[in-house]
Amino acid sequence: MGETGLQRKSDVIVIGAGAAGMMAAIRAGKRGRSVVVLDHAKSPGEKIRISGGGRCNFTNIHAGPKNFLSANPHFCKSALARFTPADFIAMVDRHGIAWHEKTLGQLFCDDSAKDVIRMLLTEMRGAGAQLYLGTEISGVEKVEAGFRVSTGEGAFEASSLIIATGGKSIPKMGATGFAYRLAEQFGLPVLETRPGLVPLTLDPGLLEAVAPLAGISAPAEIRHGRTAFREALLFTHRGLSGPAILQISSYWREGDEIVLSIEPDIDIAAHLKAAKQRNGRQSPQTALGDILPKRLAQFLVEREKIAGNMADLADRVLLRLAAAAQTFAVKPSGSEGYRTAEVTLGGIDTAALDSRSMEAKAVPGLYFIGECVDVTGWLGGYNFQWAWASGFAAGEYA
Ligand code: FDA
Repeated sequence: MGETGLQRKSDVIVIGAGAAGMMAAIRAGKRGRSVVVLDHAKSPGEKIRISGGGRCNFTNIHAGPKNFLSANPHFCKSALARFTPADFIAMVDRHGIAWHEKTLGQLFCDDSAKDVIRMLLTEMRGAGAQLYLGTEISGVEKVEAGFRVSTGEGAFEASSLIIATGGKSIPKMGATGFAYRLAEQFGLPVLETRPGLVPLTLDPGLLEAVAPLAGISAPAEIRHGRTAFREALLFTHRGLSGPAILQISSYWREGDEIVLSIEPDIDIAAHLKAAKQRNGRQSPQTALGDILPKRLAQFLVEREKIAGNMADLADRVLLRLAAAAQTFAVKPSGSEGYRTAEVTLGGIDTAALDSRSMEAKAVPGLYFIGECVDVTGWLGGYNFQWAWASGFAAGEYA
């Protein structure tokens, strides 16, 4: 051991044994490059393990550039085209992992997300990549031969360094701002980061008003400006959640309004008019409760201060009630933040990276992949597809 500790030399060092880092290690190893993978966690792929409720929504068969947010929406095209959902499915099939489509092109393991981790570890071993877990990184410097990474286990050197340490979401699981700090150390621009795919909170007044709705889920369209998602909406004790809200949260900014349209495929006004014809003695709560969760129907009738039987209500009142359910404007007060966010928006500015290789244009040999890059997918397997594709791209060149 010298002053900086033992120096292990390889062609490639990958920091971060998550989805992107493992894929990069596999690809680089298969090209005959000697690869070392370093991670401070005790186990690799911890986010894979907890993803998709333990079944890992590992890709989306519809994944394309339109499903990603980035300051440069074109950046992700090259990597996504060169490693597609079909390529990942082929790997999963080769390892005999059973899977199914749940909804909207989302593919999940039949059994366990751990199968995906095992598959990646097997592939890594087959590619000759060496994995060092529980390894704290104390510094990274540029040296003549490439990069030196100092760790609690001594120093590692390689001509290529791939940074795959993910974003800031779920700090409890070891998420750090490592990639952003390293980018800054090398003079690369980092765009403002924000929690994405995250439940939205409501201010205390509104939260108290919607408290009776906690636990209710309904099909909805959630709109923010010109962006809209149709999936389930969930009222919670903190505010709004469910896939539709998580999706829109990535577009939402503090102070913005979102518009909820509950049961968007039902013509609620027509239903109410027909109910009035059929049974004038029915209450509006009951009539609305035929198509919406009962507590939600009650809430909307009270919110609109509507009293009397259906026969007492003019058509314009029924229209107002329908509109209350389908143009329900809400101004969230904030989000639950990185504590529960599935992803981090923003990050390493793609303008500083080569879209084919993920290599920093100004620092040859340094690559950034996965969630730390300013490419963020929708909910539904898109973020893993970006991790696989960007990891594969870097592994081709590193
Ligand atoms: P990832 O976070 O996977 O890996 C980073 C690795 O770097 C980790 O192993 C970490 O320990 C290591 N690391 C971090 N800092 C370090 C440091 N300073 N030193 C050394 N090592 C360090 N996506 C999807 O497509 N389908 C899904 O089903 C889900 N489900 C889901 C559920 C939950 C609860 C969350 C939080 C997220 C998801 N996601 C998801 C998102 C998905 O998990 C995420 O986009 C990818 O894991 C990102 O892959 P990366 O490899 O970039 O980072």
